[in-house]
Amino acid sequence: MRESGLDIGGVVELDMLDIPDEMKASAQRYEATSEYEFRHILERLHIDYSNYHFIDYGSGKGAILAAAARYPFKSVTGIELSGALHHTAEQNIAEMKRRKRVRSGTLTSIQGDAASHALPPVPHVIYVFNAFGPEVLQGVLDRISADLADVREPIYFLYNNPMHHTLLEASPEFDKLSNAFGGKWMVFARPARY
Ligand SMILES: C[S@@+](CC[C@H](N)C(=O)[O-])C[C@H]1O[C@@H](n2cnc3c(N)ncnc32)[C@H](O)[C@@H]1O
Repeated sequence: MRESGLDIGGVVELDMLDIPDEMKASAQRYEATSEYEFRHILERLHIDYSNYHFIDYGSGKGAILAAAARYPFKSVTGIELSGALHHTAEQNIAEMKRRKRVRSGTLTSIQGDAASHALPPVPHVIYVFNAFGPEVLQGVLDRISADLADVREPIYFLYNNPMHHTLLEASPEFDKLSNAFGGKWMVFARPARY
């Protein structure tokens, strides 16, 4: 069930988003993920959430941050380019905390560009819902490769509406684990490194 009383619904078209014009060519409009689909995909990873950090690239108003925070991840972090959507996410996070609905160690929205965000070298579940074009996605993949090079545990990449799945399929690091919901979701994993 989606958490009630949070401002996470609706669609915000690209021309209404407060993001720089030069980024608009790559960005996609805001629309929240189906929480049912997200939970279905996440729970089929069969991971120990308490060993993992969750990050949503292009986290918007924080719908998936709110959903992920219901699991005991070490941390849940969203990176969102739009200041207005990030501000709404911060209000939603405050409301989740006020209601004591947060099971993750931390729950944070950060305003910024996905490809510029440095990752700590820890195990991650990475989430992208059709947030941006191939250049930004390749930038994110290059960051994962560099920043998580020394992480031994498997790294998971959940890709919803995977418009640029060929980049992950071409990556020497990730294997495709599954297609779900008629190809609407693809799950990739970087195997454990020993
Ligand atoms: C389709 S929405 C997904 C929202 C949320 N992840 C969810 O699943 O409910 C995509 C979001 O990506 C953001 N976005 C686009 N380009 C971005 C970039 N380069 N860095 C960070 N966020 C970006 C948009 O502003 C928009 O809020």
